Amino acid sequence: MSVIILGIESSCDDTGAAVICDGMLRSNVLASQKVHEEYGGVVPELASRAHQQNIVPVVDTALKRAGVDKKDLSAIAFTRGPGLLGSLLVGTSFAKGLSLGLRIPMVDVNHLHGHVLSHFVRENPDDKVPEFPFISLLISGGNSQIILVKGYNDMEVLGQTIDDAAGEAFDKCAKVMGLPYPGGPHIDRLAAEGDPTRFKFAKPHIAGLDYSFSGLKTSFLYTLRNAIRTNPDFIEQNKADLAASLQATIIEILLDKLRKAVRQTGVRTVVIGGGVSANSGVRATIEEYCHQNRLTPFIPKRSFTTDNAAMVAIAGYFKYLDNEFCPYDAAPYARVTV
Ligand code: KG4
Repeated sequence: MSVIILGIESSCDDTGAAVICDGMLRSNVLASQKVHEEYGGVVPELASRAHQQNIVPVVDTALKRAGVDKKDLSAIAFTRGPGLLGSLLVGTSFAKGLSLGLRIPMVDVNHLHGHVLSHFVRENPDDKVPEFPFISLLISGGNSQIILVKGYNDMEVLGQTIDDAAGEAFDKCAKVMGLPYPGGPHIDRLAAEGDPTRFKFAKPHIAGLDYSFSGLKTSFLYTLRNAIRTNPDFIEQNKADLAASLQATIIEILLDKLRKAVRQTGVRTVVIGGGVSANSGVRATIEEYCHQNRLTPFIPKRSFTTDNAAMVAIAGYFKYLDNEFCPYDAAPYARVTV
């Protein structure tokens, strides 16, 4: 009998639902919340309210697009954390209600596991998937981690950020430049036309495999503040070079520790995931690094880089196969590492 999993994602500002049937993606629906743009960041209370409005139509559409009746579902997978508590509560409560109503099990998914396992979402039977063990560079708005992935449900964090995440560095610096939220994609677009060697920003000196991005952010801020004193139009006149130099520094920081992790572990497959893995410079650099070092890279489709329910459904699918179910008293959690 087929294993059909409904995945629900509501950890931040996107309401998602997806259906995976025997590991193959049948539908993937996402309602993004535009309401936060005017505030320059996600407003938790508004996010929870929007999830509340979106969740029923989003799940309904995912089931219809998959051609699946809810009575055919084997289990419901949902993001239990990390994320915004109010947002997570909407998905968790909905999953509980549906699971009780349909008398099928629930599977709780760590959002970060979802990002790592997004490479196993197959849209065609011959889609290639990574072989274990592999190194995952997980770079999102809230996390920057290097993870040694030994199995679907067996992961070890080798390094992580001690302050800001890579996505935060993109977003906070973009905000200082007056770009809309989230700034990462805008920096990416501007960087394509700029000179990445024009400005030099501070790089961290942290031992081991941990990351730090707050020093870079401060150094970016000081560069701008000093320059604006003598030239108020500095940002406008130099925005492409600023974006390109910032992006290049973030990529250097990311690659430096990734290189170390590969050397230390001897692992030959590298995957990237999370919102920042949509960045053109990051993608090109990882491809090139892997090519030069005869490593196998897995670069996700852009639609699987940011939050989505397909990754929740596939992570839930593998837990379901391992009989790892979730009790009804499970509460969402705001923070956790892999
Ligand atoms: O994974 P994600 O959707 O959210 C979290 O789970 O945290 O990642 C969102 C982050 C934001 O910081 C956004 O600016 C960044 O991913 N991002 C990018 C790009 N697209 C999204 N950063 C740089 N370049 C991009 N093209």
